[in-house]
Amino acid sequence: MSDTSADEGRVSESEIAVHWGEEGYVRPPASFVAQANLTDPSIRERMRLENFPDYFAECAELLTWDRRWDELLDTSHAPFFRWYVGGRLNASANCVDRHLATRRNQAALHFVPEPEDEPMQHVTFQELYVRVNELAAYLRDEVGVQAGDRVTIHMPMVPDLPIAMLACARLGAIHSVVFAGFSGKACADRMVDSESRVLITMDAYYRSGQLLDHKEKADVAVAEAQAGGQAVGRVLVFQRYPGRYESHAPLEEGRDVLMGPALKAYRGRRVEPVPMPAEAPLFLMYTSGSTGKPKGAQHGIGGYLAYAAWTTKTIQDLHPEDVYWCMADIGWITGHSYIVYGPLALGAATTLYEGTPTYPDAGRPWRIAEALGVNIFHTSPTAIRSLRKAGGGHPEHYGIHFKHMTTVGEPIEPDVWKWYHEVVGKGEAVIVDTWWQTETGGFLCSTVPALDPMKPGSTGPAVPGIHPVIFDEDGQEIPRGSGRAGNICIANPWPGMFQTIWKDPARFVATYFAKYNRDPDSHDWRDWPYMAGDGAMQAADGYYRILGRIDDVINVAGHRLGTKELESAALTVPDVAEAAVVAARDPIKGVVPEIFVALHPGREGGPDLERRVSEAIAKEISPIARPRRVWVVPDLPKTRSGKIMRRILTAIANNSPDVGDVTTLSNPEVVDAIRSQHAAP
Ligand code: WTA
Repeated sequence: MSDTSADEGRVSESEIAVHWGEEGYVRPPASFVAQANLTDPSIRERMRLENFPDYFAECAELLTWDRRWDELLDTSHAPFFRWYVGGRLNASANCVDRHLATRRNQAALHFVPEPEDEPMQHVTFQELYVRVNELAAYLRDEVGVQAGDRVTIHMPMVPDLPIAMLACARLGAIHSVVFAGFSGKACADRMVDSESRVLITMDAYYRSGQLLDHKEKADVAVAEAQAGGQAVGRVLVFQRYPGRYESHAPLEEGRDVLMGPALKAYRGRRVEPVPMPAEAPLFLMYTSGSTGKPKGAQHGIGGYLAYAAWTTKTIQDLHPEDVYWCMADIGWITGHSYIVYGPLALGAATTLYEGTPTYPDAGRPWRIAEALGVNIFHTSPTAIRSLRKAGGGHPEHYGIHFKHMTTVGEPIEPDVWKWYHEVVGKGEAVIVDTWWQTETGGFLCSTVPALDPMKPGSTGPAVPGIHPVIFDEDGQEIPRGSGRAGNICIANPWPGMFQTIWKDPARFVATYFAKYNRDPDSHDWRDWPYMAGDGAMQAADGYYRILGRIDDVINVAGHRLGTKELESAALTVPDVAEAAVVAARDPIKGVVPEIFVALHPGREGGPDLERRVSEAIAKEISPIARPRRVWVVPDLPKTRSGKIMRRILTAIANNSPDVGDVTTLSNPEVVDAIRSQHAAP
């Protein structure tokens, strides 16, 4: 939670959340139900809270264990819950080796390059096995990577990315994948925090028709990490085209290694997967929170993999014979759970698309889906809105037939949902609207596709085994089904839940548990509801609707950004004295950041300054964080105690006629000044 109280101007997406009406139900087609993985109507009864935690053995049964667990759930260090304690397993063996007996010759990865004239590549489980082993051998023998070491991977959507993740997992090393669109500086911050001495990267990749130089970011990352106290001794560089180095950045002798040639000496090498304790960490995934510093969500091997596999099977309804495409990026949690670990744990093939969905036109996703015969499609509301805006690309002109479609990451408006259902899904597919977070490892709320009817605009009931509860600010439970908004929490732990914030257990407890914890010394899970940080309400039918973040986080096109991170980036421009970022509604991206800056005395605003602020944000974080507008204002509205009233700026950025109470301001006159500035063309 943010430490600012509501009246002092917490940024709240729920304040501007769209409140659409309740929609009617849409039933899943009989053809879907007939083939679905989960059709047992007693599932929620079996997974009721009284049966917790025993029912979560079902998730772990999907995996192959080197040693079975002794204890399903250990709560003795609550809220640091430990799942499947005493069990041993290896994630790479579960995603690769165990499928060889039955699926050696089947595709594990479909790689779709962005340039349409480049052929797709299909990697079989056997080839995946070979490549994961060779890289694992290199990492172990050449780089000295051992179990527990952190390895940062800053790579685009190419097969070498999941291969690198699985090679780390094979050794018991902890991977930290950084979204390729993030800057070298953002990568460095994550390397410093995770103390990674190895960076795995790529020379270049395609995005919107351009071959982007990516290796140059590695040089920035290493230099910045060094400045931050973290030496990075090895940079492993994969190549977009074998034998061709496509970056302008030089290779530094002794540090940078081109992996194509380097792996030649490792041909045919095999590495025994290390049987790891179930509760050892599998990866870190950095995400934004209320402070300027991204936090490393630490996920454990056994619990995470079990939950990713189980939700992929039951909610994604994935069978090994399906053709599955999740059009997300592996650099986010969706890609970890539902491109890499969930599908591969189940022995199903997964699709990696390198580029932009609307490149070269909005028909691209449908051409890919048609060519591969995709029958399960997974994407975000932003992608759906931008495809629709780009004319939709005429899904009806293509021979695509999805049985199942997912939407994830943001609330989806009922009319966007209906377009997705009718035009993309041709009315033939079930849709699951899945609500969850980086921290939660897998879905928390969604319809079970063969059991629950869909309701556009609502995520659905909880995933079986998950028991949400909505609290008000004072810790009182809001009556179930009342339609009243509050803070959504999960009453029980679940296997996919993250284990801690890397190197910051106190922040883990403070952010997610302190507000509704009943007794800080309790070892009883009942005293530790997990606070998601989202506003939500539950309708009379039990379906939840997620209203958006209640903290200083904004969700831009499904990318989670901390307002404080953007503000600190703006403050790297020497003229800027103060900055405030707010979320402004956007027809495509849901919300976008707008930034208000006040300058040091004597400094001049104008287009040049605005451009420098925008550039600073792109450089420090990523172009995805670029504000829609930079407003140079005479002063920021502040309370008498000096806190910036973001609520007022949010109202102005969204052109709302009423900015609310301004009587507590020390400088109420700036409100009109900013408003008239904002209203001017
Ligand atoms: C939001 C992405 C409405 C929510 C998987 C959450 C959603 C944040 C939905 C997590 C949904 C995610 N409907 N809002 N179906 N799914 N969100 O960590 O605010 O990148 O807290 O994980 O996205 O974003 P994150």
